[in-house]
Amino acid sequence: MSTPHNSAKMGDFAETVLLPGDPLRAKFIAENFLTDVVQVNGVRNMFGYTGYYKGKKVSVMGSGMGMPSIGIYCYELYAFYGVKTIIRVGSCGAYVPECKLYDIIIAQGACTNSNWAHQYGLPGTYSAIADFETLKKAYDVCQEKGYRTHVGNILSSDIFYNDQPEVWQKWAKMGCLGVEMESYALYATAASLGKKALCILTVSDSLVSKEETTAEERQTSFKQMMEVALEVA
Ligand code: HPA
Repeated sequence: MSTPHNSAKMGDFAETVLLPGDPLRAKFIAENFLTDVVQVNGVRNMFGYTGYYKGKKVSVMGSGMGMPSIGIYCYELYAFYGVKTIIRVGSCGAYVPECKLYDIIIAQGACTNSNWAHQYGLPGTYSAIADFETLKKAYDVCQEKGYRTHVGNILSSDIFYNDQPEVWQKWAKMGCLGVEMESYALYATAASLGKKALCILTVSDSLVSKEETTAEERQTSFKQMMEVALEVA
């Protein structure tokens, strides 16, 4: 059975799927890190691949940007393709001076300014968190490899161009290490379906120092994060 967004058949995806935002990153990972690769999705150019890493079956697919996009793809992977664990590999903006360009941030939890959790009808506020076992494995791999790594809360924002450009400082004051646009929806979807999720992020820009990385530099730090995710998968 395929879906409106995914032409793969049941069994085409591995139990663990790595989800970068950019589908061309998914292609890069498949071509550079996996063996015996098969393309399993191409709908809307949201490329998905299944192959092997050190003999382990693993899939990689793009998620697109933002919670509505990752929400569609992760729901379908979990609910219709038997996927058990999704590891998002993305980038984020740093909210604190300790998080430097290219550092890794593992999102232990995610806050949001989105209405995502409204659908669950909860009588309160939902805290979206990572799967601890997956998080611990990723942290241990980062330590072994000697990568500068931070573990903590982040903000998953619906807004990239904010009309209040300094409002992020309120989230920083509450301990959020950085900002991206997907993790809350992934964590909440995993929880609602009894599945596992983790978000590993590299710092691509800093709202504190206003520094930015170049596309070429991002590729290198992205490779390091990829190796971490593949070891965990
Ligand atoms: N804001 C939102 N998402 C992001 C950013 C940012 O500064 N950097 C990378 N993803």
